[in-house]
Amino acid sequence: MFDALFTPLRLGDIELQNRIVMAPMTRSRANPDDSVSALHVEYYAQRATAGLIISEGIHPSPTGKGYTLSPGLYNNQQQILWRAVTDAVHEKGGRIVAQIMHCGRVGHPDNKAPGSELIGPSAIPCQAEIFTPKGMQSMPTPRAIESAEIPGIISEYCEAAKRAMAAGFDGIELHCTSGYLPAQFLSTGSNQRTDNYGGSLENRLRFVVELTQALCDTVGPGRVGVRVCPGNPFNDLQDEDASETFAALFRALTPMSLAYLHVIRMASTGIDNIALAQQHFKGALIVNDSYSPEEANQLLVDQGAAAVSFGRPFIANPDFVGRVASAAPLSKMNGKTLYTPGAEGYIDYPTVEQASLLEDQ
Ligand SMILES: Cc1cc2nc3c(=O)[nH]c(=O)nc-3n(C[C@H](O)[C@H](O)[C@H](O)COP(=O)(O)O)c2cc1C
Repeated sequence: MFDALFTPLRLGDIELQNRIVMAPMTRSRANPDDSVSALHVEYYAQRATAGLIISEGIHPSPTGKGYTLSPGLYNNQQQILWRAVTDAVHEKGGRIVAQIMHCGRVGHPDNKAPGSELIGPSAIPCQAEIFTPKGMQSMPTPRAIESAEIPGIISEYCEAAKRAMAAGFDGIELHCTSGYLPAQFLSTGSNQRTDNYGGSLENRLRFVVELTQALCDTVGPGRVGVRVCPGNPFNDLQDEDASETFAALFRALTPMSLAYLHVIRMASTGIDNIALAQQHFKGALIVNDSYSPEEANQLLVDQGAAAVSFGRPFIANPDFVGRVASAAPLSKMNGKTLYTPGAEGYIDYPTVEQASLLEDQ
């Protein structure tokens, strides 16, 4: 019934057994030292039947951290512990890429290590609140990044990408939406720089273009994906003309021969993000946001996207792929345990098989 979703696929250098991708999802279960634990190993291994898992956002440096209990990948210990995750996914025949997420101006000192700063393209605060251990708080004004610092920030990303490969990931995905650092550089509202990284459209693109090229040079373009959502207003992101910005970005990314571009459609933006990407980006597309398996399969057939990613359905259905294959009903996720510590709401959702065994007891 879902033949297109179950057709194997090659994205750059990554072989997928099906076209059902698990979307990146922050779950706030890292240790206080930003490392992952046995819980992560179990969580990702349970979902390894996905054609590709995209990890939760991982910060490349303490400065890149915005949220409490999100994981990092900037020291040996973190790298060793991520290796346990990738080994467990590979043992089950799955593939997994690391989403690298530098939050830039999004964050709060209470979520960050002492001494690590909040930085952004310009000293303009994100006008939104963020969860902290003391509750919701507004975000302070970031320090504007100096021109001379930019190569160092790109290096942090590349070091994390190197560590991701050494930790056994199949590739990396650059988080370039949702108001984080790359998106802050792209958008007129958060980037009012007067150097080569701000002002004109070409200058606003420069950070993302240089960064993506550097990541391709570091791990090979066939192992790099980029995640975008033109017009996404999350975290106070404002751009005078998001369609124009992203059309130009897509044209700049095309010659890099990326593994894929991951596009969130987000109907509320009023922009047809998939059409925009198809018009200006030549390469494989993973599309996302509120797809049913039926609609996803049809999209692959009719519009030629390479794969579809699913987020929330994977939370309560570790065997989401098996359920799609057998048309089994989906379990509902518990929104209250999305970001709470521990196993509850994380690794305790049963598969169809486990649920029927429980019923028989
Ligand atoms: C709990 C949760 C955490 C998320 N964290 C991330 C993240 O770390 N990085 C990211 O790019 N998107 C993140 N997202 C967005 C999802 O990847 C996806 O775009 C969104 O859930 C829509 O897809 P869906 O309708 O299939 O759930 C998150 C979404 C949820 C529900």
